[in-house]
Amino acid sequence: NEVANGKITWKSPSNIALVKYWGKKENQIPANPSISFTLDTCATTTTIAYRKLEEEGNEFSFDLLFEGKPKDSFRPKIMTFFKRIEKYLPFLKSYHFTIETSNSFPHSSGIASSASGMSALSLCLMSLEKELYPEMSAEYFNRKASFLARLGSGSACRSIEGNLMEWGLHGETDGSSNEYAIKYPYTIHKVFTNYQDTILLVDKGQKQVSSTVGHELMHGHPFAEQRFLQAHNNLTKLQLVFANGNLNEFIEIVESEALTLHAMMMTSLPYFILMKPNTLEIINKIWAFRELSKTHVCFTLDAGANVHVLYPEAEKEIVYQFIKNELVAYCENGQYICDAIGYGAKK
Ligand code: PMV
Repeated sequence: NEVANGKITWKSPSNIALVKYWGKKENQIPANPSISFTLDTCATTTTIAYRKLEEEGNEFSFDLLFEGKPKDSFRPKIMTFFKRIEKYLPFLKSYHFTIETSNSFPHSSGIASSASGMSALSLCLMSLEKELYPEMSAEYFNRKASFLARLGSGSACRSIEGNLMEWGLHGETDGSSNEYAIKYPYTIHKVFTNYQDTILLVDKGQKQVSSTVGHELMHGHPFAEQRFLQAHNNLTKLQLVFANGNLNEFIEIVESEALTLHAMMMTSLPYFILMKPNTLEIINKIWAFRELSKTHVCFTLDAGANVHVLYPEAEKEIVYQFIKNELVAYCENGQYICDAIGYGAKK
């Protein structure tokens, strides 16, 4: 098909890993499998306007707007991404792109936008490819969008669909792949279908360690092999939990994964402590409240100081009261985001 010009918009969510991806090989191939909840509220909306060039250029041709304003600091990232994906999207140099992007969450909230941003951009480019090759199946579309997003930022491949996404080879029969994420293929107990995630913004500053550097630190890390094995085992254990809805088991695996991620950073060379005093205060408060209330509130962490507070919808009222009364005081400027498990990107 000949497609001269047009415009495409996608809104793609962020995601929060339960079993963490930390460590990678060449070409953004993960060192271990991971699984995440797709989020709903935290999302990036990207619009691409494309115009066919008279003749194919030698370089990529694009303009970038972030929240309505030109954003040159994003150019190198997009350039690197385009170079990586060019061989899978041979039409890239035949078009000029105007890329407009905005996030639902506050700028510099310490919430990484790479997962939602790279998945939204990949979906837009896939929509153009579909204009050119309309016969492609929905399955191929999603799989390739995830594949491209992975080349932008590893965890972005888990943001295309929902509600649970698995990425990285795990066993031989579940259809998982190192190249793209899949929808979790087994039974999911209904308690997990509307899980809540309240994100406490403890430190809104720039990330102290980029994830690129973080993954790099797993090369030659003294505990790397054990860690990768543990991730496999935790994913296997979670399969049972997802089927039977055992929340105590869920909590144990998820909190252990979060602390292990941070333990890896504390035991690498150079070493980093990415938690802040308030991160620890919040964790201790969550533990005390869980004991007292007999609820199933738990936490997970990204590679930073912010805390994701996870709990089932049925406990929303009591846990949310607790968060407001006891945890929000530890957030920078009292800021937090109420999110919940989501069902993937939307056009
Ligand atoms: O996708 P990256 O390269 O930014 O790595 C993300 C790593 C963690 O967020 C810490 C864990 C994960 O699985 O998302």
